[in-house]
Amino acid sequence: MKIMKRRTFLKGGLAALALAGAGSTGLSLLGRTGYIGTAQAGGFSAPLPVPPLLDNLDKSGQSARFAMTVQPGTVEFFPGKPTETLGYNGNFLGPTIRVRNGRRFTINVDNTLDQVTTLHWHGMHLPARWDGGPRQPIPAGTRWTPDFTIKQQAATLWYHPHAMGLTGEQVYHGLAGLVYIEDEYSDRLEIPKTYGVDDIPLVIQDRRFLDNGQFAYTRNMHDVMNGVIGNYMLVNGVMQPVLEVPGGMVRLRLLNGSNSSIYRIGFADQRVFDVIASDGGFLEAPVPMNSIVLSAGERAEILVDFAAHGQDTSLIVNQMKGSTFEALRISVKGPGTITTMPKELRKLDRIPESEASGIREFIMETMSMGGGRMGMGMMGKRLTINGKKMDINRIDEQVKLGSTEIWEITNRSAMMMNMPHSMHLHDVQFQVLSRNGATPPPHEQGRKDTVLIMPGETVRIISRFLDYTGVYMYHCHLLEHEDDGMMGQFEVIS
Ligand code: C2O
Ligand code: CU
Ligand code: CU
Repeated sequence: MKIMKRRTFLKGGLAALALAGAGSTGLSLLGRTGYIGTAQAGGFSAPLPVPPLLDNLDKSGQSARFAMTVQPGTVEFFPGKPTETLGYNGNFLGPTIRVRNGRRFTINVDNTLDQVTTLHWHGMHLPARWDGGPRQPIPAGTRWTPDFTIKQQAATLWYHPHAMGLTGEQVYHGLAGLVYIEDEYSDRLEIPKTYGVDDIPLVIQDRRFLDNGQFAYTRNMHDVMNGVIGNYMLVNGVMQPVLEVPGGMVRLRLLNGSNSSIYRIGFADQRVFDVIASDGGFLEAPVPMNSIVLSAGERAEILVDFAAHGQDTSLIVNQMKGSTFEALRISVKGPGTITTMPKELRKLDRIPESEASGIREFIMETMSMGGGRMGMGMMGKRLTINGKKMDINRIDEQVKLGSTEIWEITNRSAMMMNMPHSMHLHDVQFQVLSRNGATPPPHEQGRKDTVLIMPGETVRIISRFLDYTGVYMYHCHLLEHEDDGMMGQFEVIS
């Protein structure tokens, strides 16, 4: 499959999911050699690994006490060519951290790398000093011990490093993991919740490699602008894995953990599934779809009915800029325990527009002609938010504690640079009010922390800024854009 045009991708739906066996044409754009060819490795033999649940060191269960080591490792994605990787408590990716709302949460994070890292809790509502963004570096060889109380509803969040200029590279090498928040509500819901059996995390990421087996992560201008788009697809760190599921309802927790790819995800037989949760928790009711678009950093929980459909299938992942991959083969074995779909999930605390004290405007610009002379200004003004690049010594926005605000975010793409962006806010879960003035689709009407903004599009979001003061980030979650400075800081002030 050739590079997908935007229109095909967004409107294509089912057609866009046509199955392609292997390979990418994305790299041919670079006109470079030195990358491993286009054939897929793995051959659907390895079982899908499920990240282990991180042990709670507090055996009483009264609090959540964890320990994690950031470490270098190697993985043989290609036999005989070990790839140098990074991982949490392992070679690649990290364990799943499961915590309950209301619990005190502490974790020792030991950085054994020879470079700085951070550990950011993506999607978490938390005190700024424990956010793990660029303001909380963990220098090489040191320990960081965040300590706060979980204060949000059940959701699938994730964690990843966020050091200035290093996020993309460190995530690419393997630093990412999931955080599950559970509460009385998720306990009660009649949905699959047996970890790794009928409640399965899927961390979806693409990668590309050099001939010598190392990750081909570069920061040349092409890669910064377009993002590093891979021609191999990994699910939970493995190429072409297979998964056995029970013949009932199966809950898949999808994370687009790629650096800069936007994925349309569905199944080979185009079966309908139900979206039950977005970034920040459950939707009001299941939303039937047969494919879902997730930009880098977004999550969705879906329920797939393997009793109704019975037959085996594959998870298909279509890159907006790149190829279509058979990412995971799924086979059904034995009966499932949950066989019905709940009619209702969770009442959404809808934030009324009238509650907002004001509107803040954000322009995400791929390339700006603004300012001085053409040409000169251009190169200095690529990948900006409101014309600025990230400066850790500058506070870009101040928001009053306890206030509600509408943020109006426009992707203004100039010239030939039709670049989608993925806007992410730290600390809060927002709601999407509109896309170009229209009501967002039902699966985008829940709690979100990351939202795709297509070229020319204006997305309005609304959020409350509660509980904590301090400095947080907002940025494009295409990590190459973020590292290049497409990021700003908002301070919540009392
Ligand atoms: Cu997932 Cu500021 O990042
Ligand atoms: Cu975040
Ligand atoms: Cu971007």
